Amino acid sequence: MPFYHKLGKIPPKRHTVFKKPDGGIYYEQLFGTEGFSGMASLLYHTHRPTQVREIKGSIDVKPDVSVDVNIESLLFDGFKVNPVADYLESRTPIMVNDDIQIILSAPQESTDDYFYKNADSDEVIFVHKGEGKLRTQFGNLDFKYGDYLVIPRGTIYKLDFDNTDNRFLIVESRQPIYTPKRYRNDFGQLLEHSPFCERDIRQPYELETHDEAGEFLIKIKKQDKLFDMVYAKHPFDVVGYDGYNYPYAFSIHDFEPITGRIHQPPPVHQTFETSAMVICSFCPRLYDYHPQAIPAPYNHSNIDSDEVLYYVDGEFMSRPDIEIGTLTLHPAGIPHGPQPGATEASIGKKETKELAVMVDTFRPLRITKQGLKLTDGKYYKSWLEKKSDNEGF
Ligand SMILES: [Fe+2]
Repeated sequence: MPFYHKLGKIPPKRHTVFKKPDGGIYYEQLFGTEGFSGMASLLYHTHRPTQVREIKGSIDVKPDVSVDVNIESLLFDGFKVNPVADYLESRTPIMVNDDIQIILSAPQESTDDYFYKNADSDEVIFVHKGEGKLRTQFGNLDFKYGDYLVIPRGTIYKLDFDNTDNRFLIVESRQPIYTPKRYRNDFGQLLEHSPFCERDIRQPYELETHDEAGEFLIKIKKQDKLFDMVYAKHPFDVVGYDGYNYPYAFSIHDFEPITGRIHQPPPVHQTFETSAMVICSFCPRLYDYHPQAIPAPYNHSNIDSDEVLYYVDGEFMSRPDIEIGTLTLHPAGIPHGPQPGATEASIGKKETKELAVMVDTFRPLRITKQGLKLTDGKYYKSWLEKKSDNEGF
């Protein structure tokens, strides 16, 4: 996150001796995501963070792709993804490309006996159901329905759930995830026309410092493999840190929609960006107020984007019969728009209660085997105007 955060105790000068009260020194670690030029934090460990005891092996977690090249608009019944006790086993890739993975997950149990680290990708976890605590070496973040948890690559974390009914949409990104640049000034401060500001961003608090030796399993995701690495010291042994690179939370309910006299395009809903995709939040808002405005979106051809929409809550203006937990994919190359009747029905409406998350990717998405099982096989015909149009197909 491009603003400064400090937690715990740190020495007055970086790269200098930082003594422990009972003798010895704390060990400094620079934690960045783009070499030595991107955002970074300096952490101070009780022990050296390099103490690997054992590498126990790995399992293959490469997504199993069923459709490599896709031109069909698809609807996925996301809530059909079965709840699974373990968090990592529950993560089900639905759509992937070389930049991102779009994952659904319904974990039931807290991660008690291991830690997790994604070495390749930043992660955004959107919490559709459930609440609990994200524990990291940067401190903890409480989460609940509507939160985006943004976790930079390399962050070691665990998830504690308050109950077993949890539903996540997870986006893994090979490029760092930022807030939109056009909403930041030269110094990184969010500008007045930004739909959210620094006060809406929740930074880690409650730094846990464990001075413990033993066997600590960290499952590390790297190049589509999950390695079991055993460390000799507890990974949450940080006494303090400062900098710009750390996990944070932002609630979709704190996104302040930008509205206008006539229909505003999807970029007004933009919440996060990378060089390969954007994430947008469609939130309850007043409709356009020109007397002749058509609030429903116009048909559009994003010829260079695959467009994924995850329906969270409320009635969606362009498609009122959609169920929550549904994902749709509108692929690049063909236009899409409101379903028949939705444009006319939207005229004169004053507001919408829709809540949805959109992920637009600049490179085409491939459909996984698990994803294909969630599709209905007929969504691509849902723009036909009447039943007879479908006869003979
Ligand atoms: Fe669209």
